[in-house]
Amino acid sequence: MVLHGPNLNLLGKREPGVYGVVTLDEINQALEKEAQSLGFEIATAQSNHEGALVDLIHDAMGRHAGILINPGAYTHTSVAIRDAIAGVNLPAVEVHLSNIHKREEFRHHSYIAPVAIGQICGFGAESYRLGLQALVHYLRQNM
Ligand code: DQA
Repeated sequence: MVLHGPNLNLLGKREPGVYGVVTLDEINQALEKEAQSLGFEIATAQSNHEGALVDLIHDAMGRHAGILINPGAYTHTSVAIRDAIAGVNLPAVEVHLSNIHKREEFRHHSYIAPVAIGQICGFGAESYRLGLQALVHYLRQNM
């Protein structure tokens, strides 16, 4: 399950100097292709609402093998999303387009990282593809 958090629906138009010009649709299409070539199927969703993301994470339980998530700004604020990931006990990979560690200090802390297998950031849209590969690699070793 691929989840995109708040403001990521604006990709392509939003601060292109930071986040690039690739749209969310293009990212999802590339991920679908990549998943197919890896022998997996994905479902994608985006929400600007914390509770909706919590619901989507709960819905993944029993339906999906793992979660690839860019929690957007909720990375830095959301105990609820952290607890949801811990609660469903599904392997999760956290991804970011930008390198959050080289940006403003408030972006350096992630509530999600301690409940994720790992974090990939700083490679633009490519972060998602690398994240999917990492998740599939983990699933193959642990399924
Ligand atoms: C982001 C980084 C976050 O700090 C920011 O709030 C976002 C996007 C990224 O993909 O680089 O919305 O998650």
